[in-house]
Amino acid sequence: MSPTLLLPSTLLLLLLLLLPAVTAAAMDPDECPTKCGDVDIPYPFGIGAGCSRSKGFEITCVNNTAVLPSATRMTIPVTNLSVAPEPVAKVSLPVAYRCYNLKGDTVGEFDGHVDVNTRGAYRISDARNVFVVLGCNTGAFTMNSNATGGGGGGGRYDYRFYMGCFAYCDGPPGAAADGRCASVGCCRVDIAPGLTDNVVQFEDWPHDGMEYSPCDVAFLVDRDGYEFRAADLLMDVRRRSMPVWLDWAIRDGGDGEPMSCAAATGNRTGYACVSANSECVDAVNGPGYYCRCKQGFEGNPYLEKNGCTSK
Ligand SMILES: *[C@@H]1O[C@H](CO)[C@@H](O)[C@H](O)[C@H]1NC(C)=O
Ligand SMILES: *[C@@H]1O[C@H](CO)[C@@H](O)[C@H](O)[C@H]1NC(C)=O
Ligand SMILES: *[C@@H]1O[C@H](CO)[C@@H](O)[C@H](O)[C@H]1NC(C)=O
Ligand SMILES: *[C@@H]1O[C@H](CO)[C@@H](O)[C@H](O)[C@H]1NC(C)=O
Repeated sequence: MSPTLLLPSTLLLLLLLLLPAVTAAAMDPDECPTKCGDVDIPYPFGIGAGCSRSKGFEITCVNNTAVLPSATRMTIPVTNLSVAPEPVAKVSLPVAYRCYNLKGDTVGEFDGHVDVNTRGAYRISDARNVFVVLGCNTGAFTMNSNATGGGGGGGRYDYRFYMGCFAYCDGPPGAAADGRCASVGCCRVDIAPGLTDNVVQFEDWPHDGMEYSPCDVAFLVDRDGYEFRAADLLMDVRRRSMPVWLDWAIRDGGDGEPMSCAAATGNRTGYACVSANSECVDAVNGPGYYCRCKQGFEGNPYLEKNGCTSK
């Protein structure tokens, strides 16, 4: 058989084989990938067109790594997407830093800018994270929700939230003790609810002659996910990422405005809790709601078929 004859028929066969599969994947959540690498992708999350509830729940699978969309150029790897017991996602975010040479000149910096909320679903979890600052003459704070960029607010300054702390060492960090984030080499603060983004600013304080702590470092992190080590004052800042929890909820609704349970159960158009044995819960971090299985049931309340089943 000549190649000219083989090629079109092979193509046709391929098309015939592929087309129905592609169409089905776009229509039926049963046909959507349920995993990316080791990470489970439960509905309302999904990979590819038609597989998630909305753009806000789309996940990209790059080289077997699940990635969230981001408004900044940063790609955000996801390591856990959970529907129950709580609607949370665990991501990995690079640390922010500012490094100095022995003369005290800045030789490298990164403000950690990230926006996790391009389409509304996520908030940075205030219950599960803290903001940590490392350094020996260091003040740092995170600024969140740029008011002029549409982040709300309307206060004295450009951002709606400012939170941070300072860390100091009286000379080489002898008093900086492993396991103690107590303002010597390390400080930490709780964060406000409702955060959708993060950008770090470091105070402009002298750093000459500080070979024992050449970089100021700051990051959001799982409150049980980081223990201070004095050796971290020398960490490789360009390669270090930290685990951060996000809360998610259904925040789409009539006219694009997030709905509470009262509004969502009143207007069943687009109501997410479609399993017969599910119920609605108002979101605690940000507006909107989430779904859970009624007591005695378990499974995925966002699925009509085989959603919440009896335990
Ligand atoms: C995927 O991995 C390959 C090999 O490790 C690498 O060359 C490529 O750049 C990666 N692609 C993306 C989009 O990260
Ligand atoms: C994902 O996180 C949830 C909430 O903390 C936890 O219950 C679950 O075991 C985690 N899943 C995996 C695979 O680590
Ligand atoms: C806030 O957002 C606006 C619009 O996106 C931008 O022009 C401005 O530079 C931002 N302000 C700060 C302080 O980052
Ligand atoms: C119900 O929700 C739909 C879409 O979510 C919206 O278009 C419609 O206006 C809502 N109706 C009422 C009465 O709020």
